[in-house]
Amino acid sequence: MPDSSGPDFGNHETDINYLPYTDEVKAKTDHLYPKVANVIPELEWRAHAPFIAAINDLKKQKNAVILAHNYMTPEIFNCVGDFAGDSLQLAKEAARTDAEIIVQAGVHFMAETSKILCPEKTVLIPDLRAGCSLAASITGEDVRLLKQKYPGAPVVTYVNSTADVKAETDICCTSSNAVEVVEYAAKEFNADTVLFLPDQYLAKNVAAMTDIKIVTWAGACEVHERFSAEDIREIREGNPGVIVLAHPECPPDVLAEADFAGSTSGMSNYVKDNQPDHVVLITECSMSDNVALQNPGVNFVRPCNLCPHMKRISLPKILRALQTMEHKVEIDPEIIDKARVAIDRMIALPLVRQSMYTHERAPEVAAIEARV
Ligand code: 13P
Ligand code: SF4
Repeated sequence: MPDSSGPDFGNHETDINYLPYTDEVKAKTDHLYPKVANVIPELEWRAHAPFIAAINDLKKQKNAVILAHNYMTPEIFNCVGDFAGDSLQLAKEAARTDAEIIVQAGVHFMAETSKILCPEKTVLIPDLRAGCSLAASITGEDVRLLKQKYPGAPVVTYVNSTADVKAETDICCTSSNAVEVVEYAAKEFNADTVLFLPDQYLAKNVAAMTDIKIVTWAGACEVHERFSAEDIREIREGNPGVIVLAHPECPPDVLAEADFAGSTSGMSNYVKDNQPDHVVLITECSMSDNVALQNPGVNFVRPCNLCPHMKRISLPKILRALQTMEHKVEIDPEIIDKARVAIDRMIALPLVRQSMYTHERAPEVAAIEARV
């Protein structure tokens, strides 16, 4: 299990950091460069292209797919990722892929989710240290103790959690379906209180959208909790008319300043559908590059909070994973069986809402904090 503080788990740094840019590489990758040319200069592309060519060749030979989270850097997201999306979309792709090998270009909990959904497949994480501060904030034992304290309350767990925690969970959720899942859990388990773990801010933002009583945990995303309401006000002052989109892992007062809140794909879809003149994505840095590439007419204001765990994934490490079949994600089969129930329940729910709220509803978010 990775640790968000990033100690070395015997993970090898990649042996190959340089491959030559040959005529063969050029022939194999020239068609991909236009996808990223707006954010990757040609000189830098020549460093990436040999890895992209080698990864795409190996993927075919080995019947592998790469699932790329929206926070991956543009050369991964656009040039080697077979499927890209938010946590929910990647979990759904993992569940339906025919490939024998899944390389998770994301963090460890995402790779665990893929393994839980496809225990018979080989799931590789290119760097074992790609953890998550939310997943590291709570253990299965913590959940067992909480269940004793709140008997009868169903456990809804954000997918940003370890397999052990998911195994103690009734139903998982992601940022794109959290409200629906909480309401489903309360109804299904005939309860007026739901344990919502481990993200305290997502819990508060969800509580603003439902009458179900929510008990939460003190976990937080180290990237999103750094944004403040003051940051948003400064961005608006410096960029009149800017549309502010925020991830619901941000604190409620940040969401209260935003025009829209949604999962990483929810924000991406907002830009695609509305084509605002100026937009700012209050989330991890690489999202803006990827969304900007898909929406060349939109101007982006770019405050930059990097996720150090997501950024451990690089092209050389993806290549190494495919060459050496390291690092395989292994989970105790008993844990897989239990955790799978919670993930399957989530996947079976129809997704009716992609956003947490729009601007008109923001004041409710600020008011709800006291209730959580
Ligand atoms: P999404 O489910 O919105 O992709 O979020 C995952 C994540 O880790 C955000 O920090
Ligand atoms: Fe975890 Fe935050 Fe990084 Fe997402 S951005 S993986 S929640 S630390």
